[in-house]
Amino acid sequence: MKRILVTGAGGQIGVELVPYLRSRYGAENVLATARKPLSGPVGEGGPFALLDVRDGNAFAALAQSFGADSILHLAGVLSAKGESDPRASWDINVVGSTTALEVARECGAAFFFPSSIAAFGPSTPSKNTPQDTIQRPTTIYGVAKVTLELLCDYYHRKFGLDTRGLRFPGLISYEALPGGGTTDYAVHIYYDAVRKGRYTSFIAAGTYMDMMYMPDALAAVVQLMEADPSKLVHRNAFNISAMSFDPEEIAGSIRKFLPGFILDYNVDPLRQSIAESWPDSLDCTAAREEWGFAPEYDLDRMTEDMLARVREKEGLPPA
Ligand code: SER
Repeated sequence: MKRILVTGAGGQIGVELVPYLRSRYGAENVLATARKPLSGPVGEGGPFALLDVRDGNAFAALAQSFGADSILHLAGVLSAKGESDPRASWDINVVGSTTALEVARECGAAFFFPSSIAAFGPSTPSKNTPQDTIQRPTTIYGVAKVTLELLCDYYHRKFGLDTRGLRFPGLISYEALPGGGTTDYAVHIYYDAVRKGRYTSFIAAGTYMDMMYMPDALAAVVQLMEADPSKLVHRNAFNISAMSFDPEEIAGSIRKFLPGFILDYNVDPLRQSIAESWPDSLDCTAAREEWGFAPEYDLDRMTEDMLARVREKEGLPPA
């Protein structure tokens, strides 16, 4: 990657990935794009342009004038939000993504697509979910992810496009909050732990999902995009995960640092049913073998860092 265009730069991943890429590849070589103006490091720390990913002409003109050799296409609507307006979700997640793929083809740019644990469904083996397995998701978000996984493979085979993707688990981070996702509880719990010493979970005890701390996710994107293509048997998209826990286990980890932390429940039927349709734990062997995936953060290490960072954000002194 030398000239990188990032869509959805104002989202949970984009706000951290853009500065991370700029520090590695040079600020002037990373063009951040979003539908709304952005302040801070993403909007002001390097090139920035407004872009609605469904506008193919504007997208192509931008990618060409920037000379993009890589398009990291992050723009998308998350799982629970998608269910409130499936058509709008399809429009952004599929129409927008096919536009992005076409632009990549026109420019001969490498293409990164963030798939998700949501690309699996209730008929997928839920424990140690294989890389290649049944994918019959039941959310519009998941249907869109599978569609794009297949399209990326198609563009690779048909046009030789260098498409690569990751099936992200729930991503936990402190810079920007996720919005409208099912795994979001695992971010909110840290904020409420610091602010109130307690959290009411919308996901039920005993519901396991794969998760990962953002620094490991950023490293994985770069590692995959820089991987030797001849080693990649799979492309769209690799299972990756750093941990799998339920609300009780993350609460137990928080109590190691905040002993009085209280967890109770007010389960949201929609998000609970989505969570139950996703795997409990992924098998990440292909990612390890084909490009050396090796996350650094386990649950307790992540908890320690998250609590310290959220305290800092809230203007509180170190614990
Ligand atoms: N974190 C996403 C969500 O919960 C899944 O990819 O929607």
